[in-house]
Amino acid sequence: MRCKYTNSFNIQTILFYKKFITFRTFTKIQKIAMQNIQSYIQEHKDKFLTELIELLKIPSISADSAYKKDTIKTADVVAKSLKEAGCDVVEICETKGYPIIYAHKIIDKNLPTVLVYGHYDVQPPDPIELWDSPPFEPVIKPTDLHPDGAIFARGACDDKGQMYMHVKAMEFMTSQNQLPCNVKFMIEGEEEVGSVNLAKYVKENQEKLSNDVILISDTGMIAKDTPSITTGLRGLSYVEVEVTGPNRDLHSGLYGGAVANPINVLTKMIASLHDENNHITIPGFYNNVEELSTEERAQMAKAPFSLENYKNALDIESVYGEAGYTTNERNSIRPTLDVNGIWGGYTGEGAKTVIASQAFAKISMRLVPNQDWKNITTLFKNHFESIAPKGVKVKVTPHHGGQGYVTPIDSIGYKAASKAYQDTFGKIPIPQRSGGSIPIVSLFEKELKSKTILMGFGLDSDAIHSPNEHFGVWNYLKGIETIPSFYKHFTALSK
Ligand code: BES
Ligand code: MN
Ligand code: MN
Repeated sequence: MRCKYTNSFNIQTILFYKKFITFRTFTKIQKIAMQNIQSYIQEHKDKFLTELIELLKIPSISADSAYKKDTIKTADVVAKSLKEAGCDVVEICETKGYPIIYAHKIIDKNLPTVLVYGHYDVQPPDPIELWDSPPFEPVIKPTDLHPDGAIFARGACDDKGQMYMHVKAMEFMTSQNQLPCNVKFMIEGEEEVGSVNLAKYVKENQEKLSNDVILISDTGMIAKDTPSITTGLRGLSYVEVEVTGPNRDLHSGLYGGAVANPINVLTKMIASLHDENNHITIPGFYNNVEELSTEERAQMAKAPFSLENYKNALDIESVYGEAGYTTNERNSIRPTLDVNGIWGGYTGEGAKTVIASQAFAKISMRLVPNQDWKNITTLFKNHFESIAPKGVKVKVTPHHGGQGYVTPIDSIGYKAASKAYQDTFGKIPIPQRSGGSIPIVSLFEKELKSKTILMGFGLDSDAIHSPNEHFGVWNYLKGIETIPSFYKHFTALSK
């Protein structure tokens, strides 16, 4: 699918008129025409918000096939917005799952190319009853951390809001003749379910996606007054386990005590996966785990963090985790194993005396760089099967996974991002490893041979994946302001 220029007053228009006017008048026109990013945002912020709100109204829940039509519709809306933002080519690429939107504007083959990645799919909103306002009816409300207001909706921060900052930054750069390099966009609709079709697309389209740096806003920053650049993501191995005992549900009086109860067995097996120091007990699990040097850990400890605020925000009296590591280390540089869901037996109203035939759990393991997710999945499977007591059958089904990622802080991309934050926050951003995962990032490096810069503008308190997800209006606009600076510095540093 191709598109024509949609901006009425851009450089092409100026160049056309230039033939008829003197150089002095031309510079004058250009001056009037060129707006800086701050005044552009000031003038267009209402539109920027209304457009994002429209995007957030569409429930693009990739995990739930009931929302298939909405998810496809979201892809169309994103494609349209990229055309309007000045991309010359916009394609909706069909896959076996949800479409990938590819767009670009190539201004000069000799200039560097930035590839922007984001996702338009969102997590399911459940438990829906815990939302203060419906997840797909966005509202702007002030909060303690966002006195200027925050947009409450599923996907506000992860990732529609952050992805759309790039579309609006692009609109600014093309319409104000301030695009300094080539841009490619690749926006997918299956990030929240493992990016399986994107992986295939990337492998098959290396030439088309070739770039000098990949830019992503799908992470967070330390605080509004403490900008940070995400330098690491954890890997992931996600599995489902099934324990089967007797061939049918049994009366817990007649059979209780005489046959293995799959729920008792499953919970015991799960409990044994951590020792008294909260180390994971799977043999070989820590084999390739990178141990950070004392200096690196000291550097990490310098990032501002209040344990008191952390506990208060979560209503917990104490933190919990692997012995020998701080909270910030536990949630970024250390691997973990967590049950994400567990079910079986009778969970309805009242009591039912029953020994269930089966019990189930979904388990995620967050991995650090150098741990191979496929290998970890095999280690888990072998270990979990080996600890099953007699009298039950165990089945382990791998779901999806991906490698972790670390990015150096001496690359041109990192330096450009650092300068961009200095322009708009007046502070040097802090490099910070995140605990979350965007598994496709390591595949980008492998297939496209380029580094990814993670410029996230969300806050930990934005409740991504939780009820009442939100994104600060200030953060949204600050992102739009910072992105063009990145392009400018990246182009200059690439020379
Ligand atoms: N945007 C998040 C990942 C993230 C959030 C990284 C905040 C760092 C800081 C992404 O959409 C996500 O939710 N990823 C999943 C993994 C995916 C395979 C489902 C995750 O981390 O659970
Ligand atoms: Mn995301
Ligand atoms: Mn997510």
